[in-house]
Amino acid sequence: MTGFRPEYPVRTERLELRPHRMDDLDDLFAFHSRPEVVRYTPWPVRDREQTRVALEKKLSQGELTEPGQWLVLAIELRETGTVIGEVLPKWASAADRQGEIGFALHSAYQGKGLAAEAAREMLRLGFEELGLHRIVAVLDDRNTASAQLLERLGMRREAHHLHASVFKGEWANEYVYALLDNEWRTPRP
Ligand SMILES: CC(C)(COP(=O)(O)OP(=O)(O)OC[C@H]1O[C@@H](n2cnc3c(N)ncnc32)[C@H](O)[C@@H]1OP(=O)(O)O)[C@@H](O)C(=O)NCCC(=O)NCCS
Repeated sequence: MTGFRPEYPVRTERLELRPHRMDDLDDLFAFHSRPEVVRYTPWPVRDREQTRVALEKKLSQGELTEPGQWLVLAIELRETGTVIGEVLPKWASAADRQGEIGFALHSAYQGKGLAAEAAREMLRLGFEELGLHRIVAVLDDRNTASAQLLERLGMRREAHHLHASVFKGEWANEYVYALLDNEWRTPRP
């Protein structure tokens, strides 16, 4: 495979998943500025200017041209057109057909199954369109909302690495969750 660009918008029941646009700034700032949203994300609480700089980078992340890249998609609520979060599938390796997934949602929109709806579609894309063999998620072991979401998606907890990184100034323990293509096709009962 030489590159991958889904047909946008990718539609789910309630969402449109698509590359970011510069006019997403207000919506993006609304959740990138919230401490409870960024507690376990790799980025810090951002002010508007920091969000704008981050958004500029996201504008070109709507397509995968080589392994190692993340697709960074806005999660737009179809009903209102609001960008309520982002979902990030990664094409980690071509030779081993490995992928990774990440996500973040504005706290006002959590608890409605919307993150799972977006993430499930990204797993489908990864396995069925990109041809991946295994997709992982790596998270802080205190991030229970994220672990629960991954379990709802049928992902298995494969590893628990103690003091795997220094995260926001302290040692962090990490869970690795994974799903194989055959587990995606034939979910456990
Ligand atoms: C991780 C994160 C995306 C999970 O969001 P979420 O909204 O809890 O996850 P889901 O989309 O799976 O929603 C599940 C919840 O919606 C509820 N729900 C309501 N309507 C639903 C529906 N139609 N379908 C499914 N679930 C529904 C479920 O009961 C569940 O509620 P509960 O958590 O009280 O049991 C969110 O906590 C987040 O953005 N955190 C900050 C960023 C972050 O840490 N990202 C991960 C870094 S690894």
